[in-house]
Amino acid sequence: MHSSDMSFTYFSPFVRVESDEIRARDIKSLAPDRNRDISLVPQVIFKDMNELGILTEAITRAGYSRIDLNMGCPFPPQVKAGRGVAAAVNPCLLAELADFVSQNPDLEFSVKMRPGISSPDEWEKTIELINKIPVKFVTLHPRVAKAGYRGKPDLECFDRFSERLHHPLIYNGDITTPSDYAVITDRFPNIKGVMLGRGMLSRPSLGAEIIGGNEWDADRRRELWLAIHRAVAESIIASSQGDAQALARLKPRLEFIESDLFDKRYLKALVKSRDLATYLSLLNI
Ligand SMILES: Cc1cc2nc3c(=O)[nH]c(=O)nc-3n(C[C@H](O)[C@H](O)[C@H](O)COP(=O)(O)O)c2cc1C
Repeated sequence: MHSSDMSFTYFSPFVRVESDEIRARDIKSLAPDRNRDISLVPQVIFKDMNELGILTEAITRAGYSRIDLNMGCPFPPQVKAGRGVAAAVNPCLLAELADFVSQNPDLEFSVKMRPGISSPDEWEKTIELINKIPVKFVTLHPRVAKAGYRGKPDLECFDRFSERLHHPLIYNGDITTPSDYAVITDRFPNIKGVMLGRGMLSRPSLGAEIIGGNEWDADRRRELWLAIHRAVAESIIASSQGDAQALARLKPRLEFIESDLFDKRYLKALVKSRDLATYLSLLNI
């Protein structure tokens, strides 16, 4: 991909139905005034056309005309309920989805999926149905749901999928450095883009490095990570009930950090900090 053809789009965490309505906090977080200056595509998770209808209506009312369909979530409670990856291997649902998408020509739908629940060829049974849904593109994370995040993305599976899919294809999985990106785009020159997940959390400059075509040095990457973490800390503190809750919401974010950018003792001190004040002072806030 030539860097001049590249741009950023942000896909929201999935929004879902609760008691026959879109969850209040989901729709609040999509409010356009909270998402100024970014190209945002809301993502939905659904088990049937009733849920998808409720979500589509709420999202279009909020002012969006693009919707990403989550057919890849591997979490057992969602999969057991027929959502996430279960949708990608459900022929009846996919046939209904083709009608639903065709009946909403003013909206632009896309799909994000995994190849199967427990076997990397489950998609072969439904690929023709997926090809019939008029979506703009499909993003594939080539790990089966049962694998969670273990092992490596199955590039052979991605390759086979790319040969059978008629829609434009986007790659997702384990891109954490500009060289990971280069390996994927060299091997799959026909993909229309990549989706970055954990890599953007641990190395927030990753997208800029890829688009700009030059790597940032460690100091610059560390400063950006800290600046973002400080801003996130301020927002979390403002929306938490008390210090203990704020600290509990902040600490899991330390899982997504380029650990070799930071001194091990510093990271350990952050993880072990017993109270918010200690944590913030370590961050120089
Ligand atoms: C904490 C967490 C939350 C996630 N939430 C979503 C989600 O709401 N929708 C989605 O499509 N993928 C979600 N994912 C999966 C990522 O989008 C991505 O497919 C996966 O992490 C593999 O790509 P990566 O190796 O670039 O992270 C989530 C992943 C993590 C770790």
